[in-house]
Amino acid sequence: MAIRNIVKEGDPILNKVCRPVEKFDEKLAALLDDMYETMLNGEGVGLAAPQVGILRRIFVIDIGEGKIECVNPKIIKTKGRQEGSEGCLSCPGEYGITERPMYVTVSAQNRFGDQFTINAEGLLAKAICHENDHLDGILFKEHVIRTINPDELKVPSRK
Ligand code: CO
Repeated sequence: MAIRNIVKEGDPILNKVCRPVEKFDEKLAALLDDMYETMLNGEGVGLAAPQVGILRRIFVIDIGEGKIECVNPKIIKTKGRQEGSEGCLSCPGEYGITERPMYVTVSAQNRFGDQFTINAEGLLAKAICHENDHLDGILFKEHVIRTINPDELKVPSRK
């Protein structure tokens, strides 16, 4: 495993639409392992492949309840709304209050290509929306309804 360089806001790679994963091979497994290590090292709760320069539909999430790997994810249902603080490892030091669905159902493949579905709520739902957006070239700032000073946050960094 290795920590990869995180692409920062301003790099056009973060605004591109990612392609689906077609090969579920050792290279994909190594990428997923590296992404998770990179995410933990950055003290984030999620990381999408374009953030390490790979334009494929992949993200990893861990909100403290264990690792979730999503390959070719599709959000198939959303419900409700939540407001809360959000940041991004590609936008260091920048935070905002976003509006997101409270409940999200996502269907995805694991590293072996097997399909699974997650019903998420709260922080996990928010993280899934945030990471899924990265795969379509969208940063969290597009969902910010109010900017905040990092000093206002109880948690120093997330995502
Ligand atoms: Co992000």
